[in-house]
Amino acid sequence: MAHQNQLKINALTRCCAVYGHPVSHSASPAMHNAAFRHLKLNWVYLAFDVLPQKLNSAISGAQQMKFIGLNLTVPHKIFAFEIVDVIDNSAKNWGAVNTIRFEGKDVAGNWQPLSQFESEMPTELRSNGFNTDADAITSALYEEFKYTPDNTTVLILGAGGAGRVAALKLASCGVKQLYIINRTLSKAVELSDEIRKKYPDVSVKLDYPSGNVDLVINATSLGLKNSDPIPVDLTKFELKKSGFAYDLIYRPSETLFLKTARESGCKTANGLSMLLWQGIKALEIWTQKPAPIEIMRKALIKNIYGNT
Ligand code: ATR
Repeated sequence: MAHQNQLKINALTRCCAVYGHPVSHSASPAMHNAAFRHLKLNWVYLAFDVLPQKLNSAISGAQQMKFIGLNLTVPHKIFAFEIVDVIDNSAKNWGAVNTIRFEGKDVAGNWQPLSQFESEMPTELRSNGFNTDADAITSALYEEFKYTPDNTTVLILGAGGAGRVAALKLASCGVKQLYIINRTLSKAVELSDEIRKKYPDVSVKLDYPSGNVDLVINATSLGLKNSDPIPVDLTKFELKKSGFAYDLIYRPSETLFLKTARESGCKTANGLSMLLWQGIKALEIWTQKPAPIEIMRKALIKNIYGNT
């Protein structure tokens, strides 16, 4: 007898997918398929390894096959921004797209998500690019710490793709003072120039703070390997000077940065909540319905950490 949670794939099954390179580590299929089953959607979510130079044709192919939507992960988020037909406001600010919704023109001439078409499929199609990473940062920080950025001071370690979106999002939400540290100074300078231009009320410094901060975020890749050094120079900034410490890394569940922060008295959390919230927002963009948050969280935890 078929298990009640088993996927029943048939000719009406609709597809979503994540494109990455590499992609085999992705926990998104586990999270989204659990949500589809819960919502009783005859949809399936797959992962595809797509070369950056083939991203354009891979997106067009999904559109022609009337996929519901796509997620993009490293290294596709910036390239996708140039490829999609239209850019939603959520992506405009960041120059990066992590969620695509395919849309079709209905009989009245309005663009509708493909999830809204049941039998008769539209002939005119387009790709709409969204970004759910930026909102996921503030949703995750609120969920974990009840932290809201307004009037706070934040130290961000890392000015790569993730650090840039975190810094810009926090600046857009009224952070008072941002300190940014990056191994390659030129990238931190570029980011600080962008923040000053877009958010002139935010003070940005490319140094460690001398006083206390509300929050420190690790947005570097240091910590992914157990042998990695801590991403903060403890001779210049002691972690006890921060109230909260958030690591965008979720595997391992506690990096050296988080362990040290916890032992220094900070309230800590890892990036699983950010992964969850970007997925929640993507699902809601595709379905136009509230996402089953706890089902998705449980599926993510099981996929990433096992049953323990
Ligand atoms: P992501 O999209 O995950 O942010 P990324 O754009 O490659 O990935 O950024 C990785 C971040 O980790 C950068 O801030 C990077 O610093 P550089 O800009 O100097 O490359 C940082 N990082 C990676 N390896 C590092 C190391 N060994 N020491 C310090 N910082 C490191």
